[in-house]
Amino acid sequence: MELKGKGVHPGIRVAVALSVFYLFMKFAISPPLPFSLIFMYMALAIAGSAIYLALFSDIKEAVVDPLFSFLGGGMEGGLAKGGRYVVLVAVPMFVWFGSYQKMGASTEAPLGQRVIHPAPPGEFAGLYNPYRTEGEAGKAEFLKSVEEGKEVYFKNCVFCHGDLLDGKGIFSHGLNPAPADFQDPGTIAMLQESFLFWRISTGGIGLPQESTPWDSAMPRWETMLSEAERWKVILFLYEYTGRAPRTWE
Ligand code: HEC
Repeated sequence: MELKGKGVHPGIRVAVALSVFYLFMKFAISPPLPFSLIFMYMALAIAGSAIYLALFSDIKEAVVDPLFSFLGGGMEGGLAKGGRYVVLVAVPMFVWFGSYQKMGASTEAPLGQRVIHPAPPGEFAGLYNPYRTEGEAGKAEFLKSVEEGKEVYFKNCVFCHGDLLDGKGIFSHGLNPAPADFQDPGTIAMLQESFLFWRISTGGIGLPQESTPWDSAMPRWETMLSEAERWKVILFLYEYTGRAPRTWE
């Protein structure tokens, strides 16, 4: 095939087709394709395009033939002859090095430990529990709040966190990470109420990057419980376990 009188140059045609193909894979498909897959498809598309371009005799003469004669040693002159061996060694070395880099054991430190108690986002920091009413006057109201919190707990949380708040609810066996054990001195006694309020409000999905990889089943309670219910269930967690929240004092 000759290029002359063919309309759009095949090189441009290929460039446009490849761009459209790439943009389609990158943006038109949902959920997004992983990069490795896009890379593979693009490599195939580029190889196909190269074969297509080689059909045009002008391009073949200008690009493909010199390539073959270089690799085949058909070119005149010492430089081309030597260069051929350099390429024949360099390309496999390059591929080998690439795979070695990818697969070989690395001396880098392993992924950091996931952070179990990350810093809460700003809007939750420093909140205090409005139902922790103090003094003689507040006592009756406080106990009433705890009672309401208990009801919230046994309607919503018991299935995972357990009857005894020890993280051994009936669903707990299937969950990894396991539901928090509130009896464990390493959990709520170490934490501020604002932290619990954050974790209960936004659940596993609200955890920041540094707490991944993990698939916490802890639900996002802000969609199901009122603010008052979330604060009161926190009172219940502390009252039942006999622990006190961490405070600044
Ligand atoms: C479907 C199971 C499930 C239910 C129901 C559930 N949780 Fe959780 N919860 C978890 C899991 C799993 C974790 C541990 C992983 C994490 O921290 O996200 C957790 C963690 C927590 C933590 C964090 C403790 C810490 O040390 O950081 C709090 C607080 C909590 N849950 C409170 C509650 C409350 C209150 C309820 C009820 C309103 C509840 N959860 C209902 C599964 C559940």
